[in-house]
Amino acid sequence: MRKMIVAGNWKMNMNLEEGLSFAKSVNQYFNDKPAAKAEVILCTPFIHLDGVGQILKNSKVALGAQNCASEPSGAYTGEISAGMIKSTGAKYVIIGHSERRTYYHEDDALLNKKTTLAISSGLKVIFCCGEVKEERESARHFDVVKRQLIDGLFPLSATEIENIVIAYEPVWAIGTGLTASPEQAQEMHHYIRGLVQEKYGKQCAEEMTILYGGSCKPSNASEIFSKPDVDGGLIGGASLKKEDFAAIVEAI
Ligand code: PGA
Repeated sequence: MRKMIVAGNWKMNMNLEEGLSFAKSVNQYFNDKPAAKAEVILCTPFIHLDGVGQILKNSKVALGAQNCASEPSGAYTGEISAGMIKSTGAKYVIIGHSERRTYYHEDDALLNKKTTLAISSGLKVIFCCGEVKEERESARHFDVVKRQLIDGLFPLSATEIENIVIAYEPVWAIGTGLTASPEQAQEMHHYIRGLVQEKYGKQCAEEMTILYGGSCKPSNASEIFSKPDVDGGLIGGASLKKEDFAAIVEAI
């Protein structure tokens, strides 16, 4: 059965104290409730990983990071390796978020290197893809996503790909309040699943979790999640408010 996931991406928000106290309250909320239909993940900044990892020990809520280095260890001042992330108890890492592609010029080859390394360090990867506004307006969105997957993800072996969750995040919908319509999300998710099937076969495609991200909120989550190829969400802004995040998880 395909796994449903709702992952919160805190981005560069909250100092250490705020983050720990927020994680405590989110954790308590989900652990007091019957198991959610989706796996809940908190993707925190690096400085929170260790502390939030302690809070989430034996919890139903999983921990993730938002990026990792492209090298395993050594003289790379300021970098954090996949192995270091894994040692905090984290299970996931986001790779290829559009903010990393745009502001830090991370290209498909680099993202593939990071992804391979993260998997070999024992992490699961939430691999992001998605087109910018002009690409959608000029009807190039399918080609763009296809290239991102073929160059960034599909060099992975059939065994490695089992550690991947794909997140489709149209860049024009991230943090803008604009959301892809449920039909637009379904259309792209269906297309992505077809690409996975072409490369890795039917079973892999059926089992691949494909998340939607981009201004997902309590008011639109149920409709988007009701689509057959949408298996949950990657949530930015709304993951910083416990009630909103909880409502999105419950929308599954
Ligand atoms: P948003 O961000 O929910 O604030 O649009 C989603 C993301 O960037 O993962």
